[in-house]
Amino acid sequence: MDVVEDALSGHVRSRAGFVTEAARHLMEAGGKRFRPLLVLLAAETGDHPASSEVVTAACVVELTHLASLYHDDVMDEAALRRGAESANARWDNHVAILTGDFLFSKSSELTAELGPDAVRIQAQTFTKLVEGQILETVAPGQDEDPLAHYLDVVAGKTGSLIATAARYGARFGGASREVEEALTAYGEIVGSAFQLSDDILDIASDSVDSGKTPGTDLREGVPTLPVLMAQQSTDPDDARLLELLSGDLTDDDRHAEALDLLRKHPAIDEARAYVVARAQEAKGLLEAVPQGPVREALEAFADIVATRSA
Ligand code: IPE
Ligand code: IPE
Ligand code: MG
Ligand code: MG
Repeated sequence: MDVVEDALSGHVRSRAGFVTEAARHLMEAGGKRFRPLLVLLAAETGDHPASSEVVTAACVVELTHLASLYHDDVMDEAALRRGAESANARWDNHVAILTGDFLFSKSSELTAELGPDAVRIQAQTFTKLVEGQILETVAPGQDEDPLAHYLDVVAGKTGSLIATAARYGARFGGASREVEEALTAYGEIVGSAFQLSDDILDIASDSVDSGKTPGTDLREGVPTLPVLMAQQSTDPDDARLLELLSGDLTDDDRHAEALDLLRKHPAIDEARAYVVARAQEAKGLLEAVPQGPVREALEAFADIVATRSA
């Protein structure tokens, strides 16, 4: 990860000083580096996990992720990211959008070093990520189940890139085709579970732990797993919460009341149990990986995603 970190910082450089500053802003603010870590871990299933292509692939996924954060904060009108001011708050939407574009381009340039197959995978991943982000802004169709719509959004906007992190790791680390396919399927489910955890934390955690403003999804009117589960309630005690959830939550008082009621609601634990079940499902896909420390680490990785608190 130290090698990846050094490489990342070299890739985020522009001939224009201001572009470098804007692009480095969120990279230097922090971040868990969860996706490049998965690339390196998945590479351990192959016979050359330390190849330079593995490091390049790790940079590709982190740069794509980073770019998506610049754009996501514009969509969500978020002020805080990685404990720092978001780029849109620090500068403005134009700077945030174009810096995101710059990072996507850097990521694409780097992908070209991995060959045409990697470029195609990266492009398909990006298509799914963007479709997910767009579908989040539209209501489910008339005959569509809201939970199915939400899970489809989550698989697109987050599962797709995490699946590619696992695929790239396996492929460039020299794993068999069978292991690559298994890890891709594992990554997609772990990635969806990661987003579901993020959505629970958006309600349950505070900004000191997350580095983000809690309740952003509620304010944006994006119904996530705990909200969808709370909305199934027929308990008369939930009447006030359901009324708040069905209305506009951009008002500070209504927003604070809804957040408070949700934090105490059993739907939070129900949502957590659902995520733990998804992590179990992901672990079940690891049969192609031989028993041993690498498989155990991949299992632990899935567990941590489901139970993380930051
Ligand atoms: C945030 O991702 C956006 C989601 C897809 C949930 P991370 O939680 O990986 O963000 P950083 O990279 O650690 O800041
Ligand atoms: C972000 O989803 C997904 C992508 C960046 C593709 P969220 O809007 O839930 O993520 P946070 O909470 O802002 O990190
Ligand atoms: Mg967001
Ligand atoms: Mg968002």
